[in-house]
Formats: sequence, C-alpha cells, structure tokens
Amino acid sequence: MARKSIHGQWSSRWAFVLAATGSAVGLGNIWRFPYVTGENGGGAFVLVYLLCVALIGLPVMMAEVLIGRRGRQSPMNTMRTLAEEEGKSLHWRFLGWMGVLAGFAILSFYSVVAGWTLAYVFRLGAGIFESASAVSVAIVFDQLVADPERLLAWHTVFLVMSTVVVSRGVKSGLEKAVRILMPALFLLLVVMVGYAMGQGMFTEGLKYLFEPDFSELTASGVLEAMGQAFFSLSLGMGAIMIYGSYLSSHASIVHTSVTIGVMDTLVAILAGLAIFPIVFAFGLEPQGGPGLIFKILPIAFGRMPGGEFFGVLFFVLLVFAAWTSAISLLEPIVAWMVENHGLNRVKASAYAGMVAWLLGIGSLLSLNAWSDYTVFGRTFFGLVEFLTADIMLPLGGVLIGVFAGWQMSRQSTMDELGLGDGFLYNAWRFLVRYVTPVGITLVLLNKMSDLF
Ligand code: TRP
Repeated sequence: MARKSIHGQWSSRWAFVLAATGSAVGLGNIWRFPYVTGENGGGAFVLVYLLCVALIGLPVMMAEVLIGRRGRQSPMNTMRTLAEEEGKSLHWRFLGWMGVLAGFAILSFYSVVAGWTLAYVFRLGAGIFESASAVSVAIVFDQLVADPERLLAWHTVFLVMSTVVVSRGVKSGLEKAVRILMPALFLLLVVMVGYAMGQGMFTEGLKYLFEPDFSELTASGVLEAMGQAFFSLSLGMGAIMIYGSYLSSHASIVHTSVTIGVMDTLVAILAGLAIFPIVFAFGLEPQGGPGLIFKILPIAFGRMPGGEFFGVLFFVLLVFAAWTSAISLLEPIVAWMVENHGLNRVKASAYAGMVAWLLGIGSLLSLNAWSDYTVFGRTFFGLVEFLTADIMLPLGGVLIGVFAGWQMSRQSTMDELGLGDGFLYNAWRFLVRYVTPVGITLVLLNKMSDLF
C-alpha cells in the first residue's frame, strides 16, 4: 500500500502527535468542559465523560487515524477510495460530506468564542480586573457579548488568523508552535490550579468534579458528556482523519492516539480544578453557561500576585490553543477543494474561511440582537453547538467506527494498527463493532425519549 498524500507528510511521528494534540486541546477543554460540567452537576457527568473518552473516543480516534492513513486524501475522497477498495457502497463518501458541514458549523461558533479570548487578552492587559468583585467581572463579559460590532471584529481577526495558517499548509510552523506553547499552557494551568488550591475552596472543587451524584445525571447529561468527548478529541468530522493522512506508515496508531487522548483529558481536568474552587470560594453557581471561564478566571487574576502578567499570558496561550484547533477544522475542507477543484490552497482557504465567517455572524448576533429567536429553547449559537457537538459528531464517530469495524476487512485494519492478532487488536475491534454503535444509539434514543 504505497499511496502518498499530495499534501505532504508530517516530518515525524511526533509532529503528528503535536499537531493532533494541538487540534484536540483547545476551547473544548478550557472553555467548554468546565461549563458543560457545571450545567450537568459535576461528578457523575465527569465520570460518564471519562468513560466515553476511554471506551468510545479512543477506539474511534484509532479508526479515524487508520482510515485517514490508508486513504491519504481528504475525508470524502478517502472514504470513497477505501469503500471502493473494500468493495463496499460508495455512499460512504457522504460521511466526508457530513464532516465538512460539521466543520463549517463548529468553526463558525468556535471562532466567535476564540474572539472573546482575544478580547480578554486586552482586557487583562489593561488591568481592569484588579481586585474586581465577581459582579463587576461578570458585567465586563456581559457587555462584551452585548456588542455585535466588537464580537464581529474579533471573530473576523480570528478567522483571518486561521485561514492564513491553513493557506500556507498546516505543517509549516504548526509543529514549532505546538511544541512550545502547549507545555506553556499546561504549566500555566498548573499555576492556576495552585492558586485555586491556596485561595479557593479546593476540596469543594475536588468533590464537585470527582464525587459522582447520580441523581444529578439526566439523559441530556449523558448525551452531552458523549458529545463533549467527541468535541474535545476532535473526532467525528474528519479532522483527525486528515491529520492521519499525513502520518508515516511506520508510526504506531495506538501509541499516538493514547498519548493524544491522555493529554487532552489532563488539560480538561486541570481546567476544572482551576475553575471550580474559585466558583465556590466566591459563592457563585457552577451553572454559569458559556461565559463561565470568562466570569471566573479574571477574578483570580485580579487577586493573585503578578495576575496581570499571568492573565495576559493565559489568554494568549488559550488563543494559540484555539488557533491550532481551528486550523484542523478547516484542513479537511481545504484539502478536498484542492484535490477535486484544482484550487490552490490560498483560494481554497479563503473561500472556506468566508463561509465559516458568514455562519458565525448568526452565532454572534444570537448573543444580542437575535437573542429572542429560539428553537427548542436554544438560540442560533446554542442550536449549532448542540447539533454539531452532540448529534453530528457522535453520529460521524459511529459511522467511522462502523466503517472500520464492519466494512473494512480484518486484514486491512490489522495491517494499519500493527498490533498483530492479539488481545489489543481484538479489544479495539470489539469496541468499534459493538460498544461504540450500541452505546451511541442508546444515548441518542434515551435523549429522544426525553423530548416526548
Ligand atoms: N477539539 C477542539 C477543542 O477541544 C475543537 C476541534 C478542533 C474539533 N477540531 C475539531 C471538534 C474537529 C470537533 C471536530 O477545542
């Protein structure tokens, strides 16, 4: 099997691990994980989340990487090529299409939130949070999201940043950036946890995150835990697939996937440990919604020694984390436009960025001017977030698992995983063939029964 990607290859296995970790670690870990945990009551949600990462997320990640590496093209073309090769229906290429759709939709609101992060770099730098009360910190956030022009400006800046990198090819520069910035973000999170340990109500925070109270867990909670696992690991829409298509044939898919999964989970847990002790210390509610970290972290930065410096640094690093994630959302689409339409990367990235930018305007207006228009009690922003993270990604993930487990021959997947025919290979195959589809179907049905 000597297929080669026309878009090039990672310089090493580590480059792939770094890039994929850059994709996985982002706003999903630091912005979304704490806020959905807070909305779903803590411990029991976290436990379900961890189970989803281990039993569904990791096997699907391995499936996505192996499919990508075997096909070595954009998700649509990879799915078509492999389906053909295995003698299966060519309709599998629509899986690639669903991924493109999900990619645009996720990027559109992701960029709006990344815009908040950019705005906060300057707010922290201006020192406005020094000894600020929880109430005045919250007002700063509420004022930001009430102002569509500001939101549009930051959303635009972030999307331009992302398209510029993608237009140059994701490999140049990404490796270097991730190698330095990810460890820095990690260290800074540890500093924040240290602060929360000393100044916050740390035991309360620990209990909240790790003491499961199953009476708090609803069908929606289980669905959201699963959706969050897919979102955080960048699974289900072809981002990890396209990154896998640039991976050398010699690298171990299992080792790399486990490394990525562990790092991603660690960052999410650290974010939770940094935030909840402060929430409780200030008598605030964990159900702060999407604004949670923007209303909580500045309180801490306003009080810790060197807080202005640490605060700016933290939000700069968060911008980078979001940046390396956003480019992975664009890459599958851009690769496809280059392959099938002969566009150059610059044009392809510009077009893709424009679509996401337009869609994002809907999200940012739904925070203010359009906040009264809701569908099933969700604003446009909430609806796009729900449909992508909680529905499309798990659905995409199931199909990826089913393709690898049921459509590809045992021999093909065994060749790619390189585990031989031992326990590990068979455990993976069992998980993608049975546990993933059954698990995801049950969760989706359970949630639907919730609606009626
Ligand atoms: N995983 C990223 C985060 O946690 C977001 C992301 C990047 C993503 N690429 C993705 C989510 C692909 C779903 C699918 O912030």
